[in-house]
Amino acid sequence: MTKSILKVLAGEALDRPPVWLMRQAGRYLPEYRQVRSTAKNFIDFCLTPDKATEVTLQPIRRFGFDGSILFADILLIPMTLGRNVWFVAGEGPKLDPLAADDIASLEIGDVEGILGPVGQTVANLSVALPDKTTLIGFAGSPWTVATYMIEGGGSKDRWNSRRLYWEHPAAMERLLDLIADATIRYLVMQANAGAEVLKLFDSWAEGLPPPMFEDVVIRPTRRIVEGLRAAGVTCPIIGFPKGAGPNYVAYAEQTGVTALALDHGLNTQWALDNLPKNMPLQGQLDPAVLRAGGDALDREIERIISAFRGRPHIFNLGHGITPDVPIDHVEQLVRKVRGE
Ligand code: CP3
Repeated sequence: MTKSILKVLAGEALDRPPVWLMRQAGRYLPEYRQVRSTAKNFIDFCLTPDKATEVTLQPIRRFGFDGSILFADILLIPMTLGRNVWFVAGEGPKLDPLAADDIASLEIGDVEGILGPVGQTVANLSVALPDKTTLIGFAGSPWTVATYMIEGGGSKDRWNSRRLYWEHPAAMERLLDLIADATIRYLVMQANAGAEVLKLFDSWAEGLPPPMFEDVVIRPTRRIVEGLRAAGVTCPIIGFPKGAGPNYVAYAEQTGVTALALDHGLNTQWALDNLPKNMPLQGQLDPAVLRAGGDALDREIERIISAFRGRPHIFNLGHGITPDVPIDHVEQLVRKVRGE
């Protein structure tokens, strides 16, 4: 029996889409908060296989999602380039900001050693998950990871990163290539440990002029896809260039990804008309309507399911679930998507 998510990613349109949620392991679950409270800090949590395995399994036990995404974070990769990463409660990720002059001396370290615990988590999950559940590994895309490295954390408009691209194009290219090459090694490790699908999160793909989108999003993503294929990794790859708008078309045609995750802001009809007809699409419920619940949630789920009917489609949010979502709204979502 082929798993439903793998069928869709092979191009099949199912009567009912399979379903999982971005950030499905997280603070909206009391059992997550309990395990989280036993960890010294967030990075340590991600690098402790028993804890990371447990919180990955929690939403599968509770909701029976068709996909299970590895619990880790996109900001582990900067550690393999020798950068410090830490999380401040209530503020989010922090890194030592990276300037153009720092880039020449960056080197890729022992990826398999530093991130070895994540490989162990994947191996644990491939044994522990139910037979019908697809195990999804992931990494951040180079541009998004680079913005956190340059800005020293999250930022409103990625100003320093955008400036660095225009003022020091060669330095930006080197940084993106280093992140891509470390990411290839990280994802090869995940695939060898049992990940069945890989997803690339480019959370900051919005607001980029076309030549820049080509240089910072498309080219490094293609480098990763080609590097994985050259290393013998055959599993489907989902790309998520969040906020890319019409740039989704070039991304679909030029990166080599198998499938696209669509954000909630992308016009559904436009996506159906302009993206390759046989390409599997995942998405695109607004996380705010999941928070709202009620009739609005039912109506949006119906709209999305009927829009994608006849196309290979995986039901998901257009971005991660927020910590304030009541559990019964997630239960409502799963019942509604499954037509129960
Ligand atoms: O359940 C899953 O989806 C798997 C695990 C996962 C996490 N982060 C766990 C996490 C995944 C796939 C991510 C991806 C991630 N991390 C992205 C890309 C997706 C997106 O949301 O755009 C980004 C940009 C990050 C970086 C990151 N990690 C930020 C900005 C934050 C802080 C914001 C916040 O919500 O507090 C994190 C922390 C983080 N990563 C948490 C979780 C469950 C919450 C931290 C906690 O429990 O204290």
